[in-house]
Amino acid sequence: MQNPTPAPTDPEISALIADYLHLEGPLLPILHAIQATFGHIPQTAVPLIAGALNVTNAEVHGVVSFYHDFREVPAGRHVVKICRAEACQAMGGTALADGALAKLGVAWHGTTPNGNVTIEPVYCLGLCACAPAAMIDGKVVGRLDAARMSKLLTEAGA
Ligand code: FES
Repeated sequence: MQNPTPAPTDPEISALIADYLHLEGPLLPILHAIQATFGHIPQTAVPLIAGALNVTNAEVHGVVSFYHDFREVPAGRHVVKICRAEACQAMGGTALADGALAKLGVAWHGTTPNGNVTIEPVYCLGLCACAPAAMIDGKVVGRLDAARMSKLLTEAGA
C-alpha cells in the first residue's frame, strides 16, 4: 500500500481560498478547487473557508454534505461510480450495485481496506440507452452485468 498523501497545511488551503474570494458566490468554486487540488475537502478547510467568507462552519459543512461530488475523506486509488437513476435501475442497476458493494465489502462512499477502490452512487451518467452504467476513474462504461462489473472491480484491485 502506498503512503497516504500528506494532509494539506492551513496556509496551502488559505492560499487556494484567496484565489477565489474576488468571485461573486465563491463558496462552490473554492470547494471545487480544494477537492481538485487535495482530492477531498479536509475538515481543517471548513473553518478557514467559513472565516474567509464570513459564514458559519455549519453553512460550509451543509454545502459540502449536500453535493454528492464533494468528499470529506480522500478517495481510494480508483473511484467507481454506479448509476442509481431510473433508467439504470430499470435495467438491473440495483442488483448490479448490491453485487458491487458486496464484492467490495463496503457501503456507499466506502473505500476498500487496501485503499484501492472507492464506490459512490451517481444519478445519471447520460448513458441511459446503455443502462446499467457506471463510471470508473472518469470513464463511462455501459451495458454492465454482474460478471463484467466483478471483472472491472478485480482489475481495479478490489
Ligand atoms: S439513468 Fe443511468 S445513465 Fe442515465
